[in-house]
Amino acid sequence: MNYDIARKDLTPQGKLKIEWAERQMPVLRLIRERFQQSKPLEGQRIACCLHVTSETANLMRTLKAGGAELALCASNPLSTQDEVAASLVEDFGVPVFAICGEDRDTYYRHVNQVLDIEPTITIDDGADLINTLHTSRQNLMDNILAGMEETTTGVIRLRAMAADGALKYPLIAVNDANTKHLFDNYYGTGQSTIDGILRATNILLAGKQFVVCGYGQCGRGVAMRAQGMGADVIVVEVSPLQALQAAMDGFRVMPIGQAAEIGEVFVTVTGDTSVIRREHFEVMRDGAIMCNAGHFDVEVDLKDLREMAVSRRQVRPSLEEYTLSDGRSLFVLGEGRLVNLAAAEGHPAAVMDMSFANQALCAEFVACSERLPIQVHSVPDEIDQEVAALKLRAMGIEIDELTPEQAKYLSSWQQGT
Ligand code: ADE
Repeated sequence: MNYDIARKDLTPQGKLKIEWAERQMPVLRLIRERFQQSKPLEGQRIACCLHVTSETANLMRTLKAGGAELALCASNPLSTQDEVAASLVEDFGVPVFAICGEDRDTYYRHVNQVLDIEPTITIDDGADLINTLHTSRQNLMDNILAGMEETTTGVIRLRAMAADGALKYPLIAVNDANTKHLFDNYYGTGQSTIDGILRATNILLAGKQFVVCGYGQCGRGVAMRAQGMGADVIVVEVSPLQALQAAMDGFRVMPIGQAAEIGEVFVTVTGDTSVIRREHFEVMRDGAIMCNAGHFDVEVDLKDLREMAVSRRQVRPSLEEYTLSDGRSLFVLGEGRLVNLAAAEGHPAAVMDMSFANQALCAEFVACSERLPIQVHSVPDEIDQEVAALKLRAMGIEIDELTPEQAKYLSSWQQGT
């Protein structure tokens, strides 16, 4: 088996970690048990570009139980858990091409090594695999039935490709399933971003001026959890609608130019580039801490900051100090990459359970359906509903059913006052 990982000696720790995550992933476990019997993925080759975490390892186990041949690379150079990569190779026979801290060339070499399996299905988080297929590996595209995309940023890229007529095979926007973005993006990003900030800095959040740039589903989660820890949260937005929601949720809303002068902690969660840049660094308070929870490392303009800095040093793991010529220090977490994965362990398993249940069920849907039209598809509603129902059941929560009278009332339009 071909693979490229950092350290095989970490295998036992990786296995423990994967098993611990599995305890919090009952929906995925149920799907794995069913896949083990029915083998819906037999004959499929699935190329995966995902954060190599213990939660992802449990998705790999599920797909493998379904009969698929797999290969996995990282979707971010800093998010690989090397012990998990080792256990996937050694204990679960999954070829992994991922090393935490890999440089850009190694990252793309690994993407290409995964594509060497000549996939019939792809699974991406951020669309780097899809992008590589569409640019330098176009010869592989005829084999591909469809792919899935995990994250908001990736789905935005895919919709841009579809609008340009550039999309060459069908993709399912797993991110947009209700059981994905209403939970993973909100509760997952909310908790894991705070976790990353605290592990990197050990600061007290209570009383801090805490600026959240972006009030999408992820930004909302971060703002809510920061407020819950006692921070004084300011929201920065470009969308009038989302700004209004932030204001009515009780947050102060202002432009980044004003927030830059006040903030003590900044989190970017916009999916866009250069949200915090030179003009903002110029007015920030001494000691301000910046991090990013959006998919790519483009939201805090580190190129500007590097040019402005007279010196730089690593203060703690995942915490870098930039000293400016006027003596102020600005701090950046996790090199401006996803702070929840660079400085912590990503979203908790209980929420990834739902996201990855969607991935597994979509893989089955693709393998067992007619070829889909080439466009960006929604997750079938039955899958979304099934994931919600299974998760509720696993949590021991029962709900009511409509009475026949109620069902009839909902489907009628004649009854009024
Ligand atoms: N994305 C965010 N958190 C994650 C996790 N724990 N595993 C895989 N992908 C993630």
